[in-house]
Amino acid sequence: MRRLRIAAIGGDGIGPEVIAAGCRVLAATAAADGGFACDIQDFDWGSAMYRTTGQMMPADGLRQLEGFDAIFFGAVGAPDIPDHVTLWELRLAICQGFDQYANVRPTRLLPSVTGPLREELGRQIDWVIVRENSEGEYAGVGGRAHRGLPIEVGMDVAVFTRAGVERICRHACEIAMSRPRKHLTVVTKSNAQRHGMVFWDEVCAGVTAQYPELTVEKVLVDAMTARMVMQPGRVDTVVATNLHADILSDLASALAGSLGIGATGNIDPSRKRPSMFEPIHGSAFDITGKGIANPLGAFWTAAMLLEHLGEAAAGRRLMAAVEAVTGRGAVLTPDLGGTATTAAVTDAVIAALAGIN
Ligand code: NAI
Ligand code: MG
Repeated sequence: MRRLRIAAIGGDGIGPEVIAAGCRVLAATAAADGGFACDIQDFDWGSAMYRTTGQMMPADGLRQLEGFDAIFFGAVGAPDIPDHVTLWELRLAICQGFDQYANVRPTRLLPSVTGPLREELGRQIDWVIVRENSEGEYAGVGGRAHRGLPIEVGMDVAVFTRAGVERICRHACEIAMSRPRKHLTVVTKSNAQRHGMVFWDEVCAGVTAQYPELTVEKVLVDAMTARMVMQPGRVDTVVATNLHADILSDLASALAGSLGIGATGNIDPSRKRPSMFEPIHGSAFDITGKGIANPLGAFWTAAMLLEHLGEAAAGRRLMAAVEAVTGRGAVLTPDLGGTATTAAVTDAVIAALAGIN
């Protein structure tokens, strides 16, 4: 039997709660499928480790993860540790160390979930946002000078490389080609930023020209926010820079109803190193330990992980079970208007798996 080696890093807050639920569901999905098994190893990295050792993960952390097929990640963030420490020293250390240059976020409204848009508009949401995850505005290039003086200055320089833009655009084109509408929106701001963004446009145009079956549109990022709200059906696959896609994907998840549902993959399309899959939400201190964290985002994450590892049928089966549970509307956590616990939703999804083939 095929064995998938999965590293589970729950991290902080509700991260370990939803990842534990996700691991139960992964095991149940594998059992229902019958063709593979999941060997899951837990890593207790995160803020608790930081408080005792001063490190979010061991110095040889990346080496420990290298041999896994994928990483299943919860969240980082603790009230007593600055966010830039928790983020850069664990989550971003893995994303950058493993060159997971494509952040892929699917968004749609799950059955019976109501988002903030009118019903007929909300139902049109079926998007995949592909975010450049390795350079751009978050390259970390820049500096501060004249500290403490009236002339103090702070600068961040956006970095766009031909190789970086080409590879993210190609990955977005491949995703767009795999979807029925074969439609790609290239998001830009080249009217105002006339160097890096014009270069981004040129390189993207060169890549998309190699996909004649795709319909390609170029849209300014500000207009894109309006389009996602007013005409969600005009959007399908989207490629955008690190900063632009960061903002657009938060808008997307808000339009899809709850932070507790969304999933994302930090992908190394070259498959040289493990990719990392995570629910989009953070560590949610306000509900940590109460047993009411919505685990559906972790389940969607698990479905993406299975698809990436070549178990697409199992991933679809898991999503069908998730949709069966949201569709019935009976067993939902409080963020979706229900009263169920994390454990009850997990049990309901596992029970639903049996009815789907
Ligand atoms: P958050 O996503 O943790 O929580 C925002 C709100 O959504 C809270 O009211 C929370 O209870 C609710 N929520 C989130 N996930 C939920 C779930 N699964 N079920 C039910 N309700 C849920 O974002 P916030 O409060 O801005 O950040 C808290 C910490 O998490 C910070 O330290 C932040 O830096 C970190 N964070 C980490 C992320 C990551 O690891 N990828 C992503 C976002 C935030
Ligand atoms: Mg964000």
